[in-house]
Amino acid sequence: VSPVVLLAAAKPLAREAVEAVAAACDELSFILKKLEGYKSPEELHKALPGSTGCIIRSDKADADFFDHAPDLKVIVRAGAGYDNVDLEAATKRGVCVMNTPGQNANAVAELVFGLLLYHARRRFNGCSGFELKGKTIGLFGCGRIAANVADIARGFQMTCYGYSRSGRCQHGTCSMLSSSDELFQRCDIVSLHMPSNAQSRGCVDREKLSCLKKGGILINTARQEVIDEDALLEVLAARPDLTYITDIKPSNVDKIRTALGEARFAQQVVTTPVKMGAQTLEANVNAAVAAVQQIAGYLFHGDNTYQVNVP
Ligand code: 3PG
Repeated sequence: VSPVVLLAAAKPLAREAVEAVAAACDELSFILKKLEGYKSPEELHKALPGSTGCIIRSDKADADFFDHAPDLKVIVRAGAGYDNVDLEAATKRGVCVMNTPGQNANAVAELVFGLLLYHARRRFNGCSGFELKGKTIGLFGCGRIAANVADIARGFQMTCYGYSRSGRCQHGTCSMLSSSDELFQRCDIVSLHMPSNAQSRGCVDREKLSCLKKGGILINTARQEVIDEDALLEVLAARPDLTYITDIKPSNVDKIRTALGEARFAQQVVTTPVKMGAQTLEANVNAAVAAVQQIAGYLFHGDNTYQVNVP
C-alpha cells in the first residue's frame, strides 16, 4: 500500500511549491493529502489518521497532535526552527522529527536586507537616509541563515562579526567574537539568527539591549521568544536613537506604541504584518520538496539525517 503523506500548512505554501510536492509524491508513489490554510487544531487532528508521513511549517505539533496521529512514522518541519514540535511527545510515540536546514535560509537573509534598506532609506519618504557600506553588522547565531546574511553584507562592503554559543561559525564567513555583549557593543547593526530553545529564550535581555551602540539597530527575523519584550519596551523608550526591525511583531507591540507615541514608534520600530522571512517561491519549493525526499529516505532506507528528536 502506498504511504499517505499529509501536507498540513496553516500558512499556505506558494502554489508552485504545492505542485512540486505533488510531483515529488507522484514519483515516489506517495498518496498526497493536502490541508492548507486550516483554521483550528480540530481540523488538523481530523486529517491526521492514516498519514504515515507529515509535512508542516510553523504548525503546532504538540502531544495532542501526536495522539491523533496513530499511523505517523515521520514528520518533517519544512523549515529551520522546530520549536513548534513537541520532540519528547514524538519520541515517546516513536515518530522521527526532522527539519530541512538551509532550504529557506536565503529567503530570510534577503528579507533582513529588504527591511534594513527600507529603514535606512526612511521608508522611501524622500528624506536623506544612510548607506550600509562601511557599517558593521553583528550576527548573533552563526548557522546557515547568518552565512547568507554575511554573503550579502560583504556585497554591501559591510564588516561582519559573529557570535554563537558554540563559538563556531558554520561557514567561516565572519570574524567571531567571544561574547555576545561585545557583538552588541561593537556593531552598528545586530541581526538575530539563533533558534528558539531553552538556552536562547529571553537571551536578548536588558543588559544586551543597553549595550547597543548609539544609533544601533536590532533586527529580529528569528523568533519573538528570544527577546525579553519588557526590556525591549523599556530600552526603546529610554533611547530614541535605537531602532527595532522585525518580521515578528512583538506581543507587546501596542504597549510599545503607547510608550513611544506614534511619531517615535514610526521611527524606531519596523514590523511587517505577518512573519514572512521564508515566504518566497524558491524557499517554499526547496523546503517542501526536501521534506518529501527526507520522508522517502526515512521510510524506504531508514535515513535519519536531519532528525532532531531522540530516536
Ligand atoms: C523557519 O524556522 O524555517 C522560518 O521561521 C520559517 O517559518 P515558516 O514556515 O512559518 O514561514
